Amino acid sequence: MTLVVIFDYALRQSRSRVMQTVALRVDVLIGRNLFNKVTELPLQTLESQPSAHWQSLFRDVDTVRNALSGASAILVADLPFAILFLGLIFIIAPAVAWVLLIILPVFTFVAWRSGNVMAAANSEERQTSQSRDSLIAEMISGRTTVKALALDGAMRPLWEDKHADNIEKSILRGSKTDTYSNIGASLGMVTSIAVTTIGAIAIIDQRLTIGALIATNMLSGRLLGPLNQLVTQWRTYTNFKQSVERLGEVFNTPSERQESEVELVHPNGEITVENISFSYNEDQQPVVDSVNVAIKAGGVHALVGRNGSGKTTLLKLILGLYKPSEGRVLLDGADISQFTRSELARWIGYVPQECVLFAGSVRDNIVNRFPEATDEQLIKAATASGVHKFIIDMPDGYATEIGEAGSRLSGGQRQRIAIARALVGDPSVLLLDEPSSSLDRQAEQELRRTLHDIGHERTVIIVTHSPILLAICKDLVALDKGKVALAGPAKEILPRLFGKAPGTTGRKETQTSAQQQPAANPSPAAAARTAAPKASAKPRDQAKARPPSQPRADPQALARNPGPAAKPAENRSPALARNPGPATTAASVAG
Ligand SMILES: Nc1ncnc2c1ncn2[C@@H]1O[C@H](COP(=O)(O)OP(=O)(O)OP(=O)(O)O)[C@@H](O)[C@H]1O
Ligand SMILES: [Mg+2]
Repeated sequence: MTLVVIFDYALRQSRSRVMQTVALRVDVLIGRNLFNKVTELPLQTLESQPSAHWQSLFRDVDTVRNALSGASAILVADLPFAILFLGLIFIIAPAVAWVLLIILPVFTFVAWRSGNVMAAANSEERQTSQSRDSLIAEMISGRTTVKALALDGAMRPLWEDKHADNIEKSILRGSKTDTYSNIGASLGMVTSIAVTTIGAIAIIDQRLTIGALIATNMLSGRLLGPLNQLVTQWRTYTNFKQSVERLGEVFNTPSERQESEVELVHPNGEITVENISFSYNEDQQPVVDSVNVAIKAGGVHALVGRNGSGKTTLLKLILGLYKPSEGRVLLDGADISQFTRSELARWIGYVPQECVLFAGSVRDNIVNRFPEATDEQLIKAATASGVHKFIIDMPDGYATEIGEAGSRLSGGQRQRIAIARALVGDPSVLLLDEPSSSLDRQAEQELRRTLHDIGHERTVIIVTHSPILLAICKDLVALDKGKVALAGPAKEILPRLFGKAPGTTGRKETQTSAQQQPAANPSPAAAARTAAPKASAKPRDQAKARPPSQPRADPQALARNPGPAAKPAENRSPALARNPGPATTAASVAG
């Protein structure tokens, strides 16, 4: 007896060990592969789903692990024994065995049915909890705004709605679970009663001994236990199946290119945008529409345009973050789609419009792209972006922890660190999206000097409306509604954009495209916008549209670039003279 108990205990222990080991391996393997896969997905795929969706995939890994190591896996191991017990009952008490034979398919049917019903209820519950989690994540990440504007009042009803929805779905799922587990329990009881009754009758008829009935009762308990569990555990199985399906879907989504055929050692930085079109949704107007831009290696080039004209999107296309629906981007004459993300990130530095930093030290944030970067490179980049002095002023210097998303730094400090991060590794091309939006005047002047120096060897493309930065630009491309409205030497275009008060255009402007861009935006709407009074513009627009005569403007630049009113028409460049356009968008693209 003792031996049997010890043996049983040892058997159970080793079964649990095996299952835990398998689950651990699966967890590590799937978790690691999922992380790799998610990082390899194109930005467009990642943006197509809310962040709660991607987070929940990692919970799916937990579901798979729990299913493999929990009661459902043990059940799978126990089920074959149920068949064995049924066979034994057939030998010991054939008179009652048929009861179990009938009940077995009924149990299986109930379990299967409960699985189907649970699948639908589970996915509804999951959707509502995802939507609730998204709201919470949004609220927490925007907590300063929520607090400052007391948006909690506006968010509460939204939260109440989503929370109530989630509770409702959860209760519904719970009641369905209860219904099916109660059906399972009732079926178990019916089976016991039927076995005992039919067994008693068989004993009276002397077709069965009392001992055989007792043995049958014991064995049917071992048989009914797993069958009963089958009904309740089917939910775990359904969860497991759904998780595996979702994970399978992600693993089947095409990744970005992971290997490139050719090695481009260190490109010179010549960028050619060839007839590129792109829209975020297939059924929407293109955000970037048949854009042609040729940027020679070296020099500082500007990209300007009104809010929403597609500047950031165009930078992301040049960066290879989005795949254009038409056209291509060439780096030194090579289509960038043949290169991997890490290669492109090494060659093209990027300062995004919204500077995102990560929890960690200042050093980590600046060199996280190049962990092998030397201290010299780190300090060079930090000095160039004007953040070095501020960093060494702190007690922990470069080891200072900046908090979640850099929350312990000011907006300008964050932006300077983001610029330093882009400078590390000497990229051939540097794309900066409104790099001075949070910088003070002095920092902006320092940035101007830095970019000017970098522009001697590298290609720098800046999206900016700062006269200080625009003054060092060699060429300028102005976008309007995703199309190139003006392009050419900054010296000629700047006065047309900023040389006079916006909205006063009365006479015909000319339009150019250095790349034979078709005349853009000749619509009456554009003309109307050109003439529209700027009073309706937002303050930010006004700041961008500030004519150089206002305090932020660079007097030297002004002296070099007198407005068109001061410039006789015959002094215009031949390119401009060659391409007379409609009453066009100089003022409208100036923002
Ligand atoms: N992730 C996105 N999904 C859908 N539409 C988007 C997305 N990002 C931008 N858009 C749309 O694309 C258009 C161009 O946006 P983009 O950010 O490129 O403009 P922008 O010129 O950089 O503007 P700003 O000066 O305000 O930074 C806008 O109309 C915007 O609504
Ligand atoms: Mg932008």
